[in-house]
Amino acid sequence: MGTQLLTLDLADWQAATPQPAWISALEAGQVLYFPKLAFALQPQERALLTPALLSPDVRNISLDAQGHLKGVAGDAAVQAAVAAMVGRFRRQAEQLVHSLLPHYTPALRLAPTSYRPAQVETRVQSWRADDKRLHVDAFPSRPNYGERILRVFTNVNPDGLARVWRVGEPLEAVARRFLPRAKPYVRWQARLLQALRVTKSLRSEYDHLMLQLHDGMKSDADYQQNAPQETVPFAAGSVWVCFSDQTPHAVMSGQFMLEQTLHLSAARQYNPDASPLAILSRLTGRTLV
Ligand code: SIN
Ligand code: FE
Repeated sequence: MGTQLLTLDLADWQAATPQPAWISALEAGQVLYFPKLAFALQPQERALLTPALLSPDVRNISLDAQGHLKGVAGDAAVQAAVAAMVGRFRRQAEQLVHSLLPHYTPALRLAPTSYRPAQVETRVQSWRADDKRLHVDAFPSRPNYGERILRVFTNVNPDGLARVWRVGEPLEAVARRFLPRAKPYVRWQARLLQALRVTKSLRSEYDHLMLQLHDGMKSDADYQQNAPQETVPFAAGSVWVCFSDQTPHAVMSGQFMLEQTLHLSAARQYNPDASPLAILSRLTGRTLV
């Protein structure tokens, strides 16, 4: 496997010009890595770099598209300071995406911004929720019908610690390996899950298959160990961007990251044929949504 990482020199959130080679790499599932692009914290924001900010029982802090902040333990001043920091990251992440990928701009749908102050290494989770295992993002309760999950990440670790990921093979290779083992889609089961409100809308065959890939990868210890993959330390003070529904990824260590999710219809990509929906439709020979 060649590297799935494209390292780029950009140092300004707004100054990117759209580059066809970067766009096709991103849409092929590669990670765009910007080691010189930092999210600058204000001096007083250093005090917000602590897991003590997390409300009991939450993993992440999030700022939703309407501007509501969730997951912060602290008084009104702390809440306002966190909302300002996360909101500023959101604006910079949006500027970056708008300048790199202008064709997406009118079609993007903003999802929550998250701030993750917890240390990755000490988190204990069930295998299915364990992001230390290689996976593509797919969510059991929220069918997306092929809508893309574009994510902008920044490592704001104050001690210079990298956020270490493993990045896996292209999605087509994942699908060729795991589709033959996937449980078949059963429409009445999808209807039942919806009636029981396990899913917020009817799970499509696309959503079913993406969950089968997610679970197939995470539950296969041999795949986790031996699949084509590279270990990537994302430096403190860097930014990286990928389609997390397409790029197999696992987070191995690190602390203090901000992340912005943007959704995009696969039809509005530069090359819709590169999307997971197109890949899975081709490999199954079926219309999946
Ligand atoms: C994930 O999206 O699986 C986790 C990424 C991270 O926390 O670095
Ligand atoms: Fe993930």
